[in-house]
Amino acid sequence: MCIVGAAVKRTAEGAVCRARMNRMGQPHDRVFNFSAGPAVLPEAVLRQAQHDIWNVQDSGIGICEHSHRGQVFNRVITEAEADCRKIADISDDYAVLFLQGGASLQFAMAPMNFLRKDRTADYLHTGEWTKKAIADAKLFGNVNVAFDGGPSSFDHVPAADEISASDAPAYTFYCSNNTIYGTQYPSTPSSSAPLICDASSEILSRPIEVSKHALIFAGAQKNLGPAGCTLVIIRKDFLNGANTGLPQMLDYRKHVEKGSRLNTPPAFAIYMMGLVFKWILDQGGLAALADRNQKKAAIMYDTIESSGGFYKGVARPDSRSLMNVTFRTPNDDLDKKFIEEALANDMSGLKGHRSAGGLRASIYNAFPKAGCEALAQFMKDFAQRNG
Ligand SMILES: Cc1ncc(COP(=O)(O)O)c(C=O)c1O
Repeated sequence: MCIVGAAVKRTAEGAVCRARMNRMGQPHDRVFNFSAGPAVLPEAVLRQAQHDIWNVQDSGIGICEHSHRGQVFNRVITEAEADCRKIADISDDYAVLFLQGGASLQFAMAPMNFLRKDRTADYLHTGEWTKKAIADAKLFGNVNVAFDGGPSSFDHVPAADEISASDAPAYTFYCSNNTIYGTQYPSTPSSSAPLICDASSEILSRPIEVSKHALIFAGAQKNLGPAGCTLVIIRKDFLNGANTGLPQMLDYRKHVEKGSRLNTPPAFAIYMMGLVFKWILDQGGLAALADRNQKKAAIMYDTIESSGGFYKGVARPDSRSLMNVTFRTPNDDLDKKFIEEALANDMSGLKGHRSAGGLRASIYNAFPKAGCEALAQFMKDFAQRNG
């Protein structure tokens, strides 16, 4: 346990135990958390959750202790769904589900429900996550890799003329934001087939064209809440053509029939998501968040570009992610030094993913602009001292 006032102690993950002062001279015990996920959550959400763990909605019972079929949780899940629909403008043509198994289970569930041995699905391969999705899809049918980002080291997402669609694919699968390489589609890719999107690391960070998709899924732990719940938005008519004879927990239709309560749902994670949805509405919705996220990312990319070549961005400028800013110093030793010194300056989670190396600043919805400014200042100082 971390006790304010205890001796300074840092771990590789950046856990810090010590008394600190903020600019107002008040003690605080938080650092700027650039983690790719689980990631920073809005302070208002965490404060509310602290209260509700003890006693939610004045029921005399904490949120983790309520029956998932009782009145209190009914209200939590009903409001969460309604708020999610409002934020993302999701029509009644779509079901909204709160599932378990992480985004990774969706890599299997999507083909299990919508692919068959005699059909082909198109996959736009843009990194580690689509690699895993492709591997799972091959268990259920044929896969056409309609775009392969491997030869260009996954530095960009495909333009329309780089996509080689197959004839009448069962669906087209893409990952809208590639957390590891730091690339993001500037807009929804066009496809004549039903479109499936892994939006895990950018969901609700900008307006989303739900009506262009048959299925959108996102693990919660970046922009939506704690790990443990996966948001699934699925078009009902697409669902009508789904495969039958599936184990019930892997059958989307069964989850829709039971309103995400086919079994005990991840109640606390759904509750947290509900609080995050309310926070998004309070912030002014997706347009306001998109504007804020653009400005935060601009601080980071401007710093990289004005470093005289000391920092190099990993992603091609036309594919840069507003959520995960990936970059490198001139060499691996300096990358390591950068991470250590950043941590000593209360900035944690800047190590690139193990498969990509380098540095990565994840600046999701709840990450404050002040953190981007602090990192930019640190980057300038570091470049000056080591350039
Ligand atoms: C884009 C993307 N898809 C899928 C996953 C896997 O998510 P989970 O750990 O919830 O299965 C991640 C995790 O970081 C991700 O970034």
